[in-house]
Amino acid sequence: MKIVTIVGTRPNFIKAWPVSEALADAGHEELILHTGQHYDYTLSRIFFDELNISAPCINLGVGSGDQGYQTALMLEKIEQVLLKLEPDLSIVYGDTNSTLAGALAAVKLHIKVAHVEAGLRSFNRRMPEEINRLLTDRCSDLLFCPTDTALANLKAEGITRGVHLVGDVMYESVLKVRDMARRSSSILERLGLEPKKYLLATVHRAENTANMDRLINIFTALRELAKNEPVIFPLHPRTRKALSTAGLIPGAFLPFGLDGLRFIEPVGYADMIRLVEEARGVLTDSGGVQKEACWLSTPCVILRDETEWVETLSFGNMLAGYTLESIIAATACMPESIPENHSPLDHASMRITDILTASFG
Ligand code: UD1
Ligand code: UDP
Repeated sequence: MKIVTIVGTRPNFIKAWPVSEALADAGHEELILHTGQHYDYTLSRIFFDELNISAPCINLGVGSGDQGYQTALMLEKIEQVLLKLEPDLSIVYGDTNSTLAGALAAVKLHIKVAHVEAGLRSFNRRMPEEINRLLTDRCSDLLFCPTDTALANLKAEGITRGVHLVGDVMYESVLKVRDMARRSSSILERLGLEPKKYLLATVHRAENTANMDRLINIFTALRELAKNEPVIFPLHPRTRKALSTAGLIPGAFLPFGLDGLRFIEPVGYADMIRLVEEARGVLTDSGGVQKEACWLSTPCVILRDETEWVETLSFGNMLAGYTLESIIAATACMPESIPENHSPLDHASMRITDILTASFG
């Protein structure tokens, strides 16, 4: 079977990694189409190099832009590539603009679409990701759900055909990289950190970075927390732009420290997983990082009002919103440790590959 995998952002690459390996093991031909939504070395190429992911057969170089512009440009360019490649199937991951554009381009050409991480809902339609999820699921022939909640969300929307509960591919990614990280990552030494004596923070959601009040609240809370212990902040370019526009940090140079609050360049996956595993706690608005913290038994404060990953709340993750007081209070409640949390379903990539093979050959 000839498969085109459509990716474009950091979390897309990390999710596609285990599935690409399973597809190769099963003897399928996979071509990777990179939209170019992420293009900095530390947001894109680093993952292909580090995780040994096959190089994209094409990079569309779409780059950054407003929602409609970026999605439309991808749609136009992906269509041309799919017309040339004539795959039997296209696979898309998660909820980014690359995901939606890939699904839409394929379904209109009558190419089968498989969506990995189907059924996730925040029920907040102001998030671009929520619109991407809703529409991608509508375009998909096979919908691979990571959780029971995702399955129930699809059922509530009347989507039951082609739906499969397979587990979370990111759980596999974490397990695959964790041992490698323990062996080879020197990030703690490079940053002069001691295990369990620092906090790790990431913020990049548009809902936090485009709202000045929220951005200032989060930033002030992190500065406050950094009076007691180092707070390491791998800085997403969206947030870097927002903070420097607000005059809160200088735009150009990283690493940059404000007392204990330390901004660093985005890191590779092994370094990131090492940082998550050894942190005393994590504060994040990232979908992926909140799950990784949970699976690595690191307490996690979610810098949002809601989460698609509701299961993580029952394992100890806390929703803190974005006021100064709520973030400080939630961080003060972080337990010393949390029990080891395993995803109920491992080997999602094998399950996905088996279903794809049985469905389309
Ligand atoms: C996108 C996804 C988001 C995901 C995130 C992962 C959408 C709507 N959002 O958000 O769901 O969580 O990726 O990190 O698809 N930029 C650079 N260099 C890059 C890429 C971006 O400087 O390589 C800057 C540009 O100024 C750009 C901004 O970051 O305007 C935002 O990039 P964009 O791809 O639009 O969205 P993300 O915030 O990365
Ligand atoms: N990540 C990384 N380096 C970083 C920050 C994040 O490797 O500097 C990884 C993180 O561990 C997770 C993925 O990128 O696997 C999540 O991406 P992001 O937070 O950008 O997107 P989201 O998951 O919110 O869509």
